[in-house]
Amino acid sequence: MPQLNKITVLGSGIMGHGIAQISAMNGYQVVLRDIEQRFLDSAMDKIKWSLDKLVEKNKIKKEESEKIYGRIKPIVELKDALIDTDLLIEAVPEDLNLKKKVYSEVDQFAEEKTVYASNTSTLPISEISQLTSRPDRFIGLHFFNPPQLMKLVEVIPGARTEKSIVDLGINLVKSLGKDPVLCNKDVPGFIVNRIFIPLVHEAAYCLESDGKTMTQIDSAVKFKLFLPMGIFELADYTGIDVIHKATFEMYSRDKKVIYPHPMIAQLFSSGKLGKKSGDGFYSYGDKNYERVPLSEEEAKQYDPIRMLSVALNNASWLITNNVCNNEDLELALRLGMGLKKELFEIGKEYGFEKIINTLNQLKKGNESFYTPDPYLVTLSK
Ligand code: 3HC
Repeated sequence: MPQLNKITVLGSGIMGHGIAQISAMNGYQVVLRDIEQRFLDSAMDKIKWSLDKLVEKNKIKKEESEKIYGRIKPIVELKDALIDTDLLIEAVPEDLNLKKKVYSEVDQFAEEKTVYASNTSTLPISEISQLTSRPDRFIGLHFFNPPQLMKLVEVIPGARTEKSIVDLGINLVKSLGKDPVLCNKDVPGFIVNRIFIPLVHEAAYCLESDGKTMTQIDSAVKFKLFLPMGIFELADYTGIDVIHKATFEMYSRDKKVIYPHPMIAQLFSSGKLGKKSGDGFYSYGDKNYERVPLSEEEAKQYDPIRMLSVALNNASWLITNNVCNNEDLELALRLGMGLKKELFEIGKEYGFEKIINTLNQLKKGNESFYTPDPYLVTLSK
């Protein structure tokens, strides 16, 4: 297995800068590459902010934070960014045409030894890897936002990924202090996004039809479904552009995975991209990190059964189709989304029969999306 010393991260957005930071925090020499210096400047400011936070919380020492910062080299010139690199982690926006362009440039300069990894959240690894000179040494490493705090990395082999590269990916994730979960099949959304992205759309349907406010729905998500953020809050935090692109890519490959609500596309086209643009479902100030106030009192005003039913149905699909087992699914939701209670435990408390009835009611609107998965049906018996 190749030795990893130097990592180049392509793309310095929310995910790219976080991946660069944790790589440097764990001793790797890191190059952070973007197409313009101003993007890199903004990314380095965010890294500085995050490292200062970790110092403030006594997670690292001040001198250590300076060394970590010094290990990250921001570079615009792609050729220079790829010199002597052992591993490339691509974290550019989710657009296959853009990735195609990026990888064709990378292929011109990357050295023979460089292994390719993509942080794609929804595009099939096999499809991307085929755009490159090395589909056998290509792997999906899907980090979660914020990479500095979330412990999960989904590891996704493509159709031609060599076993040694899967092992390399798993070992790298462990060396970053993260927990790998192997995604057995290269399906749209992998594990966590197959649950998260459809849930954002489902929340939009609930907002439209249930006569409740966003903070009532979000409070119920936080206090009754045990997620650390409300779902609208999380969508804004992730980026409406990310949700919109993920929706498009997932839905174009599998109509069963998601029931898109037009609200996401509308927010996207009006430039309301969430926290990063100051507006999304909610409005924000200019602080680096900002939370939406949610309360147990507001949670009492809403029953989130529809969202729970959809999450359980998509989770069941993953199990039925052997993408992961129940244990890995719960681990992924705990470490990737901060879910504080097991999803199927929450389902059990609500009652699987009630969940199935809810899905059967919803089936009238979209049969292929809401039809209860056989695994969920067996739990209700
Ligand atoms: N670096 C360092 N510190 C950070 C930070 C960062 N990047 N981001 C936030 N913090 C700090 C905050 O500033 C706060 O500090 P403070 O106490 O001084 O104000 C501290 O962390 C704790 O924040 P909170 O009080 O908000 O506490 P939480 O317990 O809620 O933890 C969280 C924050 C870990 C972000 C938690 O809310 C969480 O897990 N949220 C869900 C995130 C999630 O689901 N991510 C996955 C999205 S899907 C995805 O990424 C896939 C993609 O493909 C779409």
